Amino acid sequence: MQSERMDSRFRGNDGTKRGKDGTQRVSDGTKRGSDGTQRVNDNAEPSTTIRRVHAREVLDSRGVPTVEVDVTVASGARGRAIVPSGASTGRHEALEFRDGDPDRYQGKGVRHAVRHVNEVLGPAVLGVDAGCQHEVDAILVDTDGTANLTRLGGNAVLGVSLAAAHAAAACVGLPLYRYLGGSLGRELPVPMVNILSGGLHARGIVDFQDFLLIPVGAQSFSDALVMVRNVYHAMGKILTARGASTLVADEGGLAPASGGSESRTGVNRTEFYANESAVRLLIEAIEQAGYHPGEDAALGLDVAATHFYQDGRYRLSAESRTLSSEEMVALLTRWVDDYPIISIEDGLAEDDWDGWQALTAQVGNRVQLIGDDLFVTNVRRLQMGIARGAANAVLVKVNQVGTLTAAIATLRLARAHGYLPVVSARSGETEDATIADLAVGANAGQIKIGSITRSERLAKYNQLLRIEEELGAYGVYRGRKVFTHFLDTL
Ligand code: PGA
Ligand code: ZN
Repeated sequence: MQSERMDSRFRGNDGTKRGKDGTQRVSDGTKRGSDGTQRVNDNAEPSTTIRRVHAREVLDSRGVPTVEVDVTVASGARGRAIVPSGASTGRHEALEFRDGDPDRYQGKGVRHAVRHVNEVLGPAVLGVDAGCQHEVDAILVDTDGTANLTRLGGNAVLGVSLAAAHAAAACVGLPLYRYLGGSLGRELPVPMVNILSGGLHARGIVDFQDFLLIPVGAQSFSDALVMVRNVYHAMGKILTARGASTLVADEGGLAPASGGSESRTGVNRTEFYANESAVRLLIEAIEQAGYHPGEDAALGLDVAATHFYQDGRYRLSAESRTLSSEEMVALLTRWVDDYPIISIEDGLAEDDWDGWQALTAQVGNRVQLIGDDLFVTNVRRLQMGIARGAANAVLVKVNQVGTLTAAIATLRLARAHGYLPVVSARSGETEDATIADLAVGANAGQIKIGSITRSERLAKYNQLLRIEEELGAYGVYRGRKVFTHFLDTL
């Protein structure tokens, strides 16, 4: 393996240029070495040995560049992954490496990150067994050499990490969820679905970012989507009836009151601008769709509080007021008392540990409290939360931490300490559906993808429908049982 890795230095970006002997190798790397012998079925090296790594710049759902990586292994099997990108990113996340050239994509190009894959990270993992994910990932992290992947970029590292997993799965002929979870991975996650959007994903119409539907009463994943669709449709009708816009935001949720003036449309703007109104609208939509709020479908929030936290206060610009940390905890506690809310994500800012502890002490026994910006899928940050009794659940976003191994480590740590994991997409997404397989393979129990419009979201939902079909009777959808862990009110 070592000689193979050294040999890799003589290859070009895409691994198609040959070693010292100059012999032509096919790009899938089935020939190798100066002796030119076929190694595909060679016992000395597994067929999952990485032969070629190639990255390119593609675009995500906001038309912003991102990194796509292809990894080809010795058998000729190929894996591809596209890296997602957040808008309300946490300060402690792995670095997303952008070119910064103002003349190209307003500085958001990723040509440097692509070059880091093709010239540094790719060569570093050539000859490594893609079937040993932890080894691939350890080499990637070591090659970068910084804590938050600031030298080569978390986006460069993650692309290789995920594509390697896809390549290994393809090589052994398994769907990714089964490759990751073996025969134990069989749980279809409860989706947490964005119906109304605000915050940075909807150009500041309401401050809170997501008003989510959690179909806890559905009997199966596919039934859950029926419920979601019915409520989404009802919400559209409610907004239309009140003269509000039904344009969708970055994650496909409806973004009310984004157009028209009050005098012209007759819309009561505060009805849509106040954060609490959005909660009431969602309950109304659940009822109009014929469901019982809290029983069939419960509510979730992603407050994404970090982005409106300034100088120690929470600035609710839609309501023209600011709240202290204590007032924010009091507000959320009242909402939990008044409404069928069973999950709150980032109710406090990423470094407001006191606020997090207070909220967890207040309502942590009856509502899921998810740390997103707080934990950034990072084992070290999650350990801090566990030690302080902050939150009781963790969002798992692979690009916050940069490798599949690190994301799975966070998931495991969460489990070991009774924190619920929620696998999550980013607001900038693509057709890549890796997280659907990750959620099932890891039996995560919950997934947060956005809404049920926009194809970058549907790529994941539809993959889950395929997996549900494939698992058949072996698959499980636990619905509300996912939450009984700490929701003694359910
Ligand atoms: P982001 O938002 O991808 O823009 O960070 C998603 C979330 O906050 O959960
Ligand atoms: Zn979030």
